[in-house]
Amino acid sequence: MSEPLLSVADLVTEFDTQDGLVRAVDHVSFDVGHGEVVAVVGESGSGKSVTMMSLMGLLSGAGRVVHGRAVFDGRDLLDMTDDELRRIRGDELSIIFQDPLTSLNPVITVGDQIAEAVLTHRDVSRQEALDRATELLTAVGVAGAEQRVNQYPHEFSGGMRQRVMIAIAIANRPKLLIADEPTTALDVTVQAQVLELLAKTQQDLGSSTIFITHDLGVVAEMADRVVVMYAGRVVETGLVHDIFREPRHPYTRGLLASRPGLEGGDRLPAIPGQAPSLLAMPTGCTFHPRCDQSHGRAPCWETEPALRVIDENRASRCHYHEELAHDPAGESAAEGRR
Ligand SMILES: Nc1ncnc2c1ncn2[C@@H]1O[C@H](COP(=O)(O)OP(=O)(O)OP(=O)(O)O)[C@@H](O)[C@H]1O
Ligand SMILES: [Mg+2]
Repeated sequence: MSEPLLSVADLVTEFDTQDGLVRAVDHVSFDVGHGEVVAVVGESGSGKSVTMMSLMGLLSGAGRVVHGRAVFDGRDLLDMTDDELRRIRGDELSIIFQDPLTSLNPVITVGDQIAEAVLTHRDVSRQEALDRATELLTAVGVAGAEQRVNQYPHEFSGGMRQRVMIAIAIANRPKLLIADEPTTALDVTVQAQVLELLAKTQQDLGSSTIFITHDLGVVAEMADRVVVMYAGRVVETGLVHDIFREPRHPYTRGLLASRPGLEGGDRLPAIPGQAPSLLAMPTGCTFHPRCDQSHGRAPCWETEPALRVIDENRASRCHYHEELAHDPAGESAAEGRR
């Protein structure tokens, strides 16, 4: 197999907080292949965004990467200087954030903001960059782009602003596009349109994509592979089809069971309990207090399970991942409760 475009290994990121040192990302490893769409899922606070910010060199002041490698196209992102990172950010590597209003400058026209992304990385004239901006706006589905380039962000609707963000992110045809919950601020119909645009863009450019989302429905449609995170760690990875058919971690199974819009109408309750505080992590498996598969077995609270490779495409951080095989609905867990 050829080298992946991005290979993250043992990434550890910590924040100094008033209450102590918080390890938001704990030995996270995953790969993204060429042209592959990898979804990263997990509850709020599981470390998805901090992982991406660590890779991009965009951590806020109190945060730092204390360990790990992130080899992107042959070079370790974590070894790069700020200058080197700035050169590839927005060029080979782009990120789309959740909230386009805070990411766009209100006093600069949309066209100038897109053109700026081009001018920063390409040796072209201002006019060429503006032409490219119009072309990009058209490509992301903004009608009347020739006029719209001269407008300001407040003249655009939320969905249109997110299209502008996508135009900026793809302006230089990145090798890797990271989309961090790009549609959560939008209403449902607009969400669907923006997702469609992202899928089309990904196909047109052939870029690898990391797609962060809470929405497992989206995962099924867009992603090739899934990385499931819990409390700063990767707890399961696998091909989309396998993950949906046969989750091999009780947390993944819980996420799947609680997904909205499951046919049959009755939505199952969310996974009981709450994600642990990073300042007071449970012993053993960090998921054990909420787990319906553990049945109080000692290894679950005594020993932290490693992320074990199950096959070429699958790994799970559950002591009892074998019990979960052929048990996608958690029948054995229900059995155990009776
Ligand atoms: N600047 C910071 N200082 C201290 N802790 C932080 C900081 N930024 C993030 N964290 C902590 O790191 C953990 C991971 O946060 P992160 O934003 O990566 O979660 P997430 O998985 O992206 O969640 P969401 O789905 O809500 O976006 C959280 O516990 C969060 O409180
Ligand atoms: Mg986030």
